[in-house]
Amino acid sequence: MRILVVGGGGREHALVWKLAQSPRVTKIYCAPGNPGIAALAECVNISTDNVKALCGFAQEHNIDLTVVGPEKPLTDGIVDYFAARGLKVFGPSREAAQLEGSKSFAKERMQKYGVPTAEFAVFDSAAAARAYIEAKGTGIVVKADGLAAGKGVVVAETAAEALQAIDEIMLKKVHGDAGCQVVLEERLIGEEASLLAFTDGFTVVPMVAAQDHKRVGDGDTGPNTGGMGAYAPAPVMTPELLSEVQQTILQPMIDGLRNEGILYQGCLYAGLMMTATGPKVIEFNARFGDPETQVVLPLLDGDLLPVLEACIDGALAETEVRWQNGATVCVVLAAGGYPGEYRKGDAIAGLAAAEAKGAMVFHAGTALNGESVVTSGGRVLGVTAVAEDIAAAVAKVYPAVEQIKFAGMQYRKDIAHRALNRN
Ligand code: AMP
Ligand code: GLY
Repeated sequence: MRILVVGGGGREHALVWKLAQSPRVTKIYCAPGNPGIAALAECVNISTDNVKALCGFAQEHNIDLTVVGPEKPLTDGIVDYFAARGLKVFGPSREAAQLEGSKSFAKERMQKYGVPTAEFAVFDSAAAARAYIEAKGTGIVVKADGLAAGKGVVVAETAAEALQAIDEIMLKKVHGDAGCQVVLEERLIGEEASLLAFTDGFTVVPMVAAQDHKRVGDGDTGPNTGGMGAYAPAPVMTPELLSEVQQTILQPMIDGLRNEGILYQGCLYAGLMMTATGPKVIEFNARFGDPETQVVLPLLDGDLLPVLEACIDGALAETEVRWQNGATVCVVLAAGGYPGEYRKGDAIAGLAAAEAKGAMVFHAGTALNGESVVTSGGRVLGVTAVAEDIAAAVAKVYPAVEQIKFAGMQYRKDIAHRALNRN
């Protein structure tokens, strides 16, 4: 089978790495890919936003299956576009992807289907949003309604901070039209977990739960990022909680959408807060998480391809999805300054030495400058180790991380601290 993977980050490197192991896969293309992916796939210089060109490529190159990584093409309708032309594609339709593309759409559906989530209100006027904040006081989270590259959320410590967020999102439009509406919601307290699931629109099969590290600094300090590292399985998600999430969150969402005529097929990512009153949804994403995919896919036992096909063909109930024992830890190496302005073009040394320590190095923001691999994004690499348990994976990953050097490199030294410090 000939595969096209859309995207060029650590998530897509992990997808390509896993698909390359399938005995049925004969050729993988990746658009646009990156220098790490280039070792496993042929990279094609087409932007992930250029749905028409991607479709043309898939038709010309007889692609049997396209797997979409990022949210933007999904919310733009890449799946509808491909499917209308008879091309097989993994991911939700434009309408289903609204679960990520519009926070108000997601919140209203959760409310309708009785899925536990933070209390919320939606506003399209700054004055009304300000009045709500002034009445509520503290404990408010401000979210731009639309896509804002993971930066549209402010967990406000004070009412003043929430008011300032309204000014920036709704009046100054720092996230553009994503800020025409805001969702204000109750601040949830607890430990977070990311639960990704395969679904064909009927059956939902959860993957192993992961935990991301959203803040840039050790001890969960500093600004939010796209994710500075992850591990799986996350022990906060006990088997009992997993079955609760399946019954109260995942299945009702998929059933509720289907009953409204929206068949959600692909990967459903639930960002969860494990609160004192049970798991609640922080957000849904319509795609694989990054860096979560880098820790989850190495634990999938066997071939990913039939699972992706089953999601598209409505055959997930008859498809076996097995997980290996053991654990994975991924440490993201980021460029200096990230998540703010960061440097680009710095030479990266030590990639082979890191792999010699038994880790996998997934490329995220890298590029080639002549023969040498240089930085080209905020999150540069995801160094990932698999071992028998989390402690062993941590012990394996950091010596590999220490082999890698580039100017301004920053990374968290405490990935998996919550798992290690549980009693
Ligand atoms: P989101 O982009 O919706 O995932 O939000 C980014 C991060 O903000 C989440 O990973 C949480 O750490 C935090 N967050 C979002 N919503 C809430 C909430 N209602 N209560 C507490 N923290 C939240
Ligand atoms: N790691 C968070 C995300 O993929 O949205």
